[in-house]
Amino acid sequence: MTDNLSPADAAKSAAALRAASYVKSGMKIGLGTGSTAAWLVKHLGERVRSEGLDIIAVPTSTRTAEQADAEGITITSLNDAKWLDLTIDGADEYDADLALIKGGGGALLQEKIVATASDRMIVIADETKFVDRLGRFPLPVEVLGFGMTATQMLIEEMLEGLDVSGSKAVPRMDGDALFVTDEGNHILDLHLERIGNPRQLSLVLNQVPGVVENGLFVDICDICITGFANGRIEVRDIARGSVETTENPNAFLDLAD
Ligand code: 5RP
Repeated sequence: MTDNLSPADAAKSAAALRAASYVKSGMKIGLGTGSTAAWLVKHLGERVRSEGLDIIAVPTSTRTAEQADAEGITITSLNDAKWLDLTIDGADEYDADLALIKGGGGALLQEKIVATASDRMIVIADETKFVDRLGRFPLPVEVLGFGMTATQMLIEEMLEGLDVSGSKAVPRMDGDALFVTDEGNHILDLHLERIGNPRQLSLVLNQVPGVVENGLFVDICDICITGFANGRIEVRDIARGSVETTENPNAFLDLAD
């Protein structure tokens, strides 16, 4: 099944397939956004069709909603679902504490609300997303359009006094226009290079008037499943304090090809 996939897609698909095994009939599931989450939606769709997996899903973007619908997965709103058993999503960076940077795809607001309204969050990623310290990936911050320039200036000033290695806030563009989120807001990408204290930064950012939400996920993710191009899987479980590795379960099949 991993034939003809690029190494990156093979890794993402492997992580997503393992995460899909945590999903059982009767569950209410949050579905993330991005290229890795798209593999999850594909694998869950296959289970819905082949096994009759009976789930209700809350997507975190219009993109994911459209894909889930096309895969035959029943979708609903978070208001109707009220609370979720599990959310599975990608990430732009994660560290050993499973603190995350999210929002590269611009869906951080719904992603954070959905993940926080879930009993558990599993992140799926390829090996490139693991970092010793968050911050190399520009931190997305969703802001209101009203007074956005003032919000940008306030954030840059505030960053000067914090444990980060950069302070530039760059409005995200979509061609010649500002990028618009599903909620009709915009994104500032913060070029920080190094975030010394993600928890403090997240709290302080959300105090700035005009900031709707930031892409730091601290104490939200429970498990991170990392896929590798050869099919190897690494599962980091923060509650158990464990990192378990499974070598490629299809290695012998590959050799037989
Ligand atoms: C979207 C996100 C994504 O989860 C993140 O950008 C990772 O995406 P990908 O799996 O395509 O690398 O936060 O807002």
